Amino acid sequence: MDTKFSLTELLKNPLAQLASAYFFILLALVGLGFFYINQNPAIMQNKVPAVVKDTTNLIVPLEVQEPRINPGIDLKLLTVPDQALLDKGKQLYDANCASCHGSTGSGDGVAGAVMNPKPRNFRLEAGWKNGRKVSEIYYTLQSGLIATGMPAYDYLAPYDRIAMIKYLRTFMTNAPVDTEFDITSLDQTYLLTQGAKVAGTIPVDAAIRLMATENSAKLQKITEVLDFLNRTKIENDNAKLFFKITNNQKNAVTTLLNSNKWMNSHNDFISLVSSYMISNGFNGKIVELSDEKSVQLFQYLKSILM
Ligand code: HEC
Repeated sequence: MDTKFSLTELLKNPLAQLASAYFFILLALVGLGFFYINQNPAIMQNKVPAVVKDTTNLIVPLEVQEPRINPGIDLKLLTVPDQALLDKGKQLYDANCASCHGSTGSGDGVAGAVMNPKPRNFRLEAGWKNGRKVSEIYYTLQSGLIATGMPAYDYLAPYDRIAMIKYLRTFMTNAPVDTEFDITSLDQTYLLTQGAKVAGTIPVDAAIRLMATENSAKLQKITEVLDFLNRTKIENDNAKLFFKITNNQKNAVTTLLNSNKWMNSHNDFISLVSSYMISNGFNGKIVELSDEKSVQLFQYLKSILM
């Protein structure tokens, strides 16, 4: 059979005609699709509102920490296997980390579902920002990863942090080993063997409970600030921004009233807003603001909360 393409052949054979028309039909459909998307601003600008589940109840409240001296620890803990340490680590990991990182470390915890970036999957080797060694993870827990929603756990005792690190490393394949130098530097930076004095902290949940029962003056202030923000949010851009970056305005105002340190600088403000995220009433959207807006909001909140 002659398969050479020609118009007469095509007209003789209707099936081939259909086959060539198919291409144009497809083209028209794709074109229509683009037209539709273009006409629909909600899709174009990604403004379809996300349905955000309230995951507040999944975060296990932390304990109130009195100011204390952390006892020095034995550096062998960092390298030598120790079952008691692992058991403690599992217990702490399940209480503090599993809500986001998942109970098997796959980054699939319920509270992390709406986060961007998603909590790290400890089972994968690639993509770590600070790294997978004990010393590197220690640093992550000390400082958090501010722009990501990974909170700092600097208020936990070194022994507890090392316990969690050792436990989460059991999820890894090819877990990298710390060198002698890594461990010495870690010890020098964080005074692990020597022990160190740490300030007391009080988690937001506990603070809110305490205030509710003990401090009606502060409660009064919270109500006033909330009323003010609610009244002004229509015409005041900063009040509007406050609603944008919070999920629970009462908790957020309580968080701010509970400490003065954040008023020292914009950085202190960001670090307060980013720690204990979710239970502190903020939602992490602060990082989406331009620096200018973020600083402006900081000044504004300072002025109404002073
Ligand atoms: C509120 C959710 C949340 C909680 C709770 C949480 N994390 Fe994370 N974690 C994150 C997010 C988000 C990231 C960032 C992922 C990224 O950078 O891509 C992260 C990253 C990490 C990383 C990777 C750092 C690196 O080098 O990339 C480690 C290690 C980590 N978390 C440990 C922990 C431990 C241990 C706990 C419990 C003490 C914990 N996290 C609790 C959300 C959370």
